Amino acid sequence: MRGPLLLCLALLAGCGDRPTLETVLERGVLIVGTEPEFPPFESKNEKGEIVGFDMDMAKELAKDLGVKLRIEGMPFETLPTALRGGQIDLIVSGMTAKPERAKTVSFSDIYYETVLCLLVHTGSGIEKAADADGKRIAVKTGTTGADVAKELFKKATLIPFPAEGACALEVATGRADAFLYDRHSILRHHKNTPDTTRVIDEPLNAEPYAMACRLGDTEFVGRLNSFLRAFRADGRYAKLYEQYFGEPPPAR
Ligand code: ARG
Repeated sequence: MRGPLLLCLALLAGCGDRPTLETVLERGVLIVGTEPEFPPFESKNEKGEIVGFDMDMAKELAKDLGVKLRIEGMPFETLPTALRGGQIDLIVSGMTAKPERAKTVSFSDIYYETVLCLLVHTGSGIEKAADADGKRIAVKTGTTGADVAKELFKKATLIPFPAEGACALEVATGRADAFLYDRHSILRHHKNTPDTTRVIDEPLNAEPYAMACRLGDTEFVGRLNSFLRAFRADGRYAKLYEQYFGEPPPAR
């Protein structure tokens, strides 16, 4: 009985999940989901268009697939659900490929690597990362920063906010002692509030970014990875990287 039951479950789970590549090519449009509050990866410009490193990379992907690109902005936390529900084909949103998430989405190869670190209020008394335990730590809901803060700082009071900007503001005003987030964001927030914040530049977790598609769509993952290989090999990646980060990409 066990075998047929498992087969039924497998069929049910897969039912309705057409291979993404087929859908995209037929539609002639690749629909990418992102939360545009994460410069330089994705943000809204003055015209309200979603722009950034991820979006330029997605444009190249669409071009390689021979389709148009449509970008859907939505809260970061809702991206996996939108993907599962078929509203989007792909998540490109500075998303860290972490094992927990790989249970609900399938990740491409890595296209950027960073770490988590802390933005702290100047009056917080935090000199090194370990001092943050027992303090008030702002976290953005649904992000790796929130998960890692919970694991690392067991005695801390976590203050969750849906928006990154709110987390940084809490620290700048001293309502929170610290904010744990991706390093490039932490550096940017410190630059905006140099008098009231400091960066504790200790890497607290590795954050490899990848694109995410529907769980188990191995064909699409293969296509994403062959795109990434070509994109790196022909120099487009290095060019984009320099444009956004002002330096050549790290050697691999
Ligand atoms: N890298 C972090 C994570 O995966 C934060 C990503 C936030 N991205 C965004 N577009 N808002 O949880």
